[in-house]
Amino acid sequence: MTSTLITGIGELTTNDEELGRPADAALVLDGDRIAWIGAASAAPAADEILDVEGRAVLPGWVDSHTHLVFAGDRTAEFEARMAGAAYAAGGIAVTVEATRGATDAELAAGLRKHVDEAAAQGTTCVETKTGYGLTVADEVRAARIAAEVADEVTFLGAHLVPPGADAEDYLDEVCGPMLDAVAPYARWADVFCETGAFDETQSRRVLTAAAAKGLGLRVHGNQLGQGPGVRLAVELGAASVDHCTHLSDADIEALAGSATVATLLPACDLSTRQPLPPGRRLLDAGATVALASNCNPGSSYTSSMAFCVTTAVLQMGLSVEEAVRAATWGGARALRRETGDGAVGVLRPGARADVHVLDAPSATHLAYRPGVPLTHAVWRKGSRVR
Ligand code: NIG
Repeated sequence: MTSTLITGIGELTTNDEELGRPADAALVLDGDRIAWIGAASAAPAADEILDVEGRAVLPGWVDSHTHLVFAGDRTAEFEARMAGAAYAAGGIAVTVEATRGATDAELAAGLRKHVDEAAAQGTTCVETKTGYGLTVADEVRAARIAAEVADEVTFLGAHLVPPGADAEDYLDEVCGPMLDAVAPYARWADVFCETGAFDETQSRRVLTAAAAKGLGLRVHGNQLGQGPGVRLAVELGAASVDHCTHLSDADIEALAGSATVATLLPACDLSTRQPLPPGRRLLDAGATVALASNCNPGSSYTSSMAFCVTTAVLQMGLSVEEAVRAATWGGARALRRETGDGAVGVLRPGARADVHVLDAPSATHLAYRPGVPLTHAVWRKGSRVR
């Protein structure tokens, strides 16, 4: 791999406390790492030089919440929702049926297509989940396929009780043979803790079993109404609790006093006609916030992190700097990948060479020019992907 010196940077977002937003900076990518960041006048030699002519440079987006191992289409459900039908997560069963009927090659191709689509828009680190298989064999298959493509894999056998199954029998399977079989492919486990999915007792059982197996924890919580998801996630030390659309004051306080990241999924809330999550209140209280796409065929069929950033600024009261940080560093923190060698969501020497150049002089243009595709160039692990 060659080294690349990027010069002519208009605005550099590093998310690094010491580096901050240095003016007149340049950076060098060497192999799959950032090798150097400093004053352009002191830049070292590199194999190639790229002048980005005043464009903004930031870390690649870190999309810490997606459901990309799926088959089938739910356009009809979306149309019904836009005509007034409520989202109740029942459509998950439609995707489960289509996913079970797909071949390995079809699922892998679909996953690759969505990850590539996201990369072309600046997403350089992707988490994805199982959860559309809901049998031991189908969940293992999803995890195995996900592990070949995604940066992070989450076991979501507890997405929904499969149609026709008994909830407690199904949980016996999730916490026993399914967890044993999926664990080698996954770093994380998740549960959909919501009325109509899994209650507090059931969710606690899933998370406790997964933690005993050595998996890190994440929770789908407080998506469709207030409930125990956030409280449980904080109590059990989950790395993140995702959705956080309907929060009580106590939930916000609990998040603010914890290491659990509040991962907000505004594209999902728009697509399901929910209110937007209280991002401003979470930040003001001192909670750590991430933004993610929740790309899936039912509740949020977008891979656009820029759309999430734009929405967070225009409608949730975040500043551009806060929203960009939440979609880069915040996602990395939610995946516990923001520090150390090969860190993502940050630009500093030793971090992964995941770089996003906007066709704009500053990140402000993401909100100032909503809907305009502004990705100019992208490197993932040092390879130019756009
Ligand atoms: O995060 N809430 C549960 N799971 C997904 C939705 C999946 C679907 O509707 O297919 C979510 O929104």
